[in-house]
Amino acid sequence: MWGDRVRLIDHPMVQHKLSILRDKATPSKQFRELVRELALFEGYEAMRDLPLSEVDVETPLAPATCRRVAKQVAVVPILRAGLGMVDGVLDLVPAARVGHLGMYRDETTHRPVAYYAKLPDDIAERVVIVVDPMLATGGSAAAAIAYLREQGVAGVVRLMVIVAAPQGVEAVLASDPDVEIYACAIDERLDENAYILPGLGDAGDRIFGTE
Ligand code: URA
Repeated sequence: MWGDRVRLIDHPMVQHKLSILRDKATPSKQFRELVRELALFEGYEAMRDLPLSEVDVETPLAPATCRRVAKQVAVVPILRAGLGMVDGVLDLVPAARVGHLGMYRDETTHRPVAYYAKLPDDIAERVVIVVDPMLATGGSAAAAIAYLREQGVAGVVRLMVIVAAPQGVEAVLASDPDVEIYACAIDERLDENAYILPGLGDAGDRIFGTE
């Protein structure tokens, strides 16, 4: 339906972990670990097309021509739930830089309000991966991507979420022609409070134990 701009990570291990994540009985510690693990799996897919350059390496036996990732990465969590996905991406790319974007959702209007931004100064030269576990209305993600564009980020922006609502996917795709969305699930719909159904509840509260 959305073409190759939306990638569903349908791997059995991802779906298995997601089922535990959704369970309301899963405690905060395990929830946090699962979010991190899912971010690692998603990051693996989101970085599948990173450019490589050749490098000469001496093995203990002989010279070898190898390949290394040729672009640097920035991971940008949308505060606060996005923080839960950062370490999963850093597990894959320890040299990535981390930028932070604070967007909170106004409880009445459900519109994003920016309250904090701190990005690597070379963000425009990096492969940028925005992370936020829940893509609900898409307002925060679209606002975050628009902010990154203002800071000179060109080309593909990768948005990694764990659960998305169709409405959020459509809003983000409509907001930017060059965004790719990675999700472990695209759920049915939003409820009247803009929570995803069936979803997994409030991801930030479950990550940080503030329920
Ligand atoms: N944010 C969440 O944490 N959960 C939702 O279902 C929607 C937005």
